[in-house]
Amino acid sequence: MATIKTIAIVGATGNMGSAIAKSLSKQGKYRLLLMSNEQDKLVDLKMQIEKTSKSTEVFAISCAREASWEADIIIVATPYEAEKEVAEKIREVATGKIVISISNPLNSAYSELVTSSDTSAAEELQKLLPNSKVVKTFNTTFAADFLSPIIDGKTADAFIAGNN
Ligand SMILES: NC(=O)c1ccc[n+]([C@@H]2O[C@H](COP(=O)([O-])OP(=O)(O)OC[C@H]3O[C@@H](n4cnc5c(N)ncnc54)[C@H](OP(=O)(O)O)[C@@H]3O)[C@@H](O)[C@H]2O)c1
Repeated sequence: MATIKTIAIVGATGNMGSAIAKSLSKQGKYRLLLMSNEQDKLVDLKMQIEKTSKSTEVFAISCAREASWEADIIIVATPYEAEKEVAEKIREVATGKIVISISNPLNSAYSELVTSSDTSAAEELQKLLPNSKVVKTFNTTFAADFLSPIIDGKTADAFIAGNN
């Protein structure tokens, strides 16, 4: 029998965090540790998942470090600007773990990248988490398409980048 992986989602009540949580819960293969600062929204999300995916174990947690501590994989579903703060909170407990970066580091007008041309959001997160395995993915799929990623009749591609 395959081992159930535990996945923490930091920023779980945001557009992407909740879409990823619902999508993963449909697989029935993951234990989900959902972290958000907004407890009401988080409890609501947990209830929605428990109603639709009865076999998925899901926990609502208010602390990024606590959620990441027990996880095999950590998904940072926050804006790029919040990644430094999140990295500082989870650094010690993310050692040796896969950390997924989903951010598109755009300015507020969505017209330009805020990262310089010789780096990327994931590379910056990797510098902040030197002992973790940072992987970039999910950033090319809109939150609204996550549960059913079929666009114009074609399954959306997912791109994955990382060094490990
Ligand atoms: N929306 C999309 O379709 C889409 C597609 C591809 C990639 N992305 C990327 O996905 C990321 C999230 O986008 P989104 O649209 O989901 O944004 P969002 O709806 O604003 O959600 C962001 C989440 O991050 C949380 N957050 C912010 N600062 C935090 C911190 N310091 N510690 C912990 N949690 C924090 C927010 O919680 P609070 O409100 O409680 O602060 C919120 O739950 C972004 O990096 C974006 O570039 C988005």
